[in-house]
Amino acid sequence: MKNVKIGIIGFGNVGQGFAQAIQQKREFLRESYGINPLITAVCDTFKGSLYNSDGLDLNLLAKPGVGFDEFKAEEKTGWDASEMIANAESDVILELSVVNLQTGEPAVSYITQALNAGKSVITSNKGPIALRYRSLRALAQQNNVKLGVEATVMSGTPAVRLGKEILEASGIRSVRGILNGTCNFILSEMKNGSAFKDALASAQKLGYAEADPTNDVGGFDTAAKVSILSEVFFGERVVPADIPCEGISDLTPQDIAKATEVKSVWKLLGTIDGSTLPPKISVKPVMLPESDPLAGVNGAMNAIQFQTELLGQVTLIGAGAGRLETAAGLMQDLILFFKEE
Ligand code: HSE
Repeated sequence: MKNVKIGIIGFGNVGQGFAQAIQQKREFLRESYGINPLITAVCDTFKGSLYNSDGLDLNLLAKPGVGFDEFKAEEKTGWDASEMIANAESDVILELSVVNLQTGEPAVSYITQALNAGKSVITSNKGPIALRYRSLRALAQQNNVKLGVEATVMSGTPAVRLGKEILEASGIRSVRGILNGTCNFILSEMKNGSAFKDALASAQKLGYAEADPTNDVGGFDTAAKVSILSEVFFGERVVPADIPCEGISDLTPQDIAKATEVKSVWKLLGTIDGSTLPPKISVKPVMLPESDPLAGVNGAMNAIQFQTELLGQVTLIGAGAGRLETAAGLMQDLILFFKEE
């Protein structure tokens, strides 16, 4: 049995979801993989920071809405994220700080510091990976540690691993996907008669939307995700800002009704055509016939469809956001990196 010491930067929904997932699966992780997960350090801009080298009380960390006041006085450190990386005993840092699709900061700096300190990093943060995956992965290799990004696209639905580790050998030619739960939710609600702004308000209330929902409805979140997939599946780095990107904000109730009349539905699709390199990438709303496998993917659900040389078409449908769903993706990387052989 191996103690795996985990430090978490950012203890919002996803961080808490991870604590809950680890608590729920603790015995399973021990018995099946020989992993004894210990969350030793947690740091959050708003809540403060905690540290215990033997592991913080998991039952308390996993309690929804827990405040840091409930922990022992000697566990409160006052460290910022950088001090936590430098001072806390940890094998792996979970980087879950605020998403910044413009610069990737502060996450890029945290990940860089952690990798240089010889710690593996697992993240669901799209900003640093869309903008700097190639150099961060190289840094991880130089330091002989791992960088896990499964949860950046489709949360715990294993889109990244399916493409990279399973389908690659079959020759991925192109990929298209519904990669933003907020937009898919809004489009589904509009098809049922809701106004755009009411549907967006519901998506925000349900916790799907980004802090700045312009990133969702403007297509920029999807652009960040296809940028990550392009690097992972085709080894081609395309900066999100260079991806032609059209969101869903201009779709009118009339557009939605017109699609219904011709037995079609609107979906915001991210596509990567890798049949020639560099791949052609775009993000835009597309009217799909109801017979298309992606047309029936509704609500906050995501989907990805691979066109492969040997296997033809493969479609994966699953969650794309949510606290436990994203935590499941983080846990998959944790298992892969630390399981006993
Ligand atoms: N805002 C994102 C979405 C969250 O709606 O899909 C998951 O990346």
